[in-house]
Amino acid sequence: MTASPTGQIYMPTQRNLHFRLDPEKIANWNKDSAHVSHFMNTLSLFFPVGERFFIDSVRHYRDSITDPELKKAVKAFIGQEAMHGREHEEYNGAMFAKVPATRGMERFVESLLNQVKKLPKGWQLSATIALEHFTAILADALLTEPRILEDADSRYALLWRGHALEETEHKAVAFDVWEAVKGTDPLAYVERTAGLLLASLIFWSIAIPFYLRVLYHEKQLTNLKGWAKLFHYAFGKVGTLRKLIGPWADYFRPSFHPWDHDNRELLDQLEVLAREVEAA
Ligand SMILES: [Fe+2]
Ligand SMILES: [Fe+2]
Repeated sequence: MTASPTGQIYMPTQRNLHFRLDPEKIANWNKDSAHVSHFMNTLSLFFPVGERFFIDSVRHYRDSITDPELKKAVKAFIGQEAMHGREHEEYNGAMFAKVPATRGMERFVESLLNQVKKLPKGWQLSATIALEHFTAILADALLTEPRILEDADSRYALLWRGHALEETEHKAVAFDVWEAVKGTDPLAYVERTAGLLLASLIFWSIAIPFYLRVLYHEKQLTNLKGWAKLFHYAFGKVGTLRKLIGPWADYFRPSFHPWDHDNRELLDQLEVLAREVEAA
């Protein structure tokens, strides 16, 4: 379903994209910089277990959905997230070989999510739509700021762009499930927005120490040039993370819907990218 403000309906498409990354490039695939590459590598550590969690929390409500279009969108959402999980598992395999401590980091995230799975299903779905919002705004930033991937290895760049495009394509599916089963009353609003606050707080309080641990292993903690490069991309002139604050906060509008951020024109890139992946 996933209706945009103009009423246009989006139905995600299941694709089988295989990116065949070169594990030898894991530490420096982006701009020959360990700081920039490992920042994104650290994000990747969350994906396979996180996306399995998203699938489970949406799947739980599949039988409560009556709209056949939304049911179809849920099926495609599950297919896309499963494919992303598979590709990021391969990606993370390269990270485990390069920085062995990252295997334990992934396990830590998995055990944390197993604890979250003991919470009521509504809170699990709230965490899912919060993290899907976070992923969608990150994806938009990656796709609209060409400087982030301009000097990157082509296969790694294809993986990140491909993932970002599919995240954009399905960004409203879990949210529409939420609205279908929870509605938009004040209680649903509190549960939804508390989910974003908690998920953001927990995510960064885990991701930052993980990232520092990776840089420590790579003997990059005192590399000031590396930090300057990361700062330039995250908070400085390019400022990807700095620019996310506004879109992040839009989630607190009571009438918020993911397609309020209308970036559907990006989806035109998907079929071209799928052909590029096949040819790579
Ligand atoms: Fe994904
Ligand atoms: Fe997603």
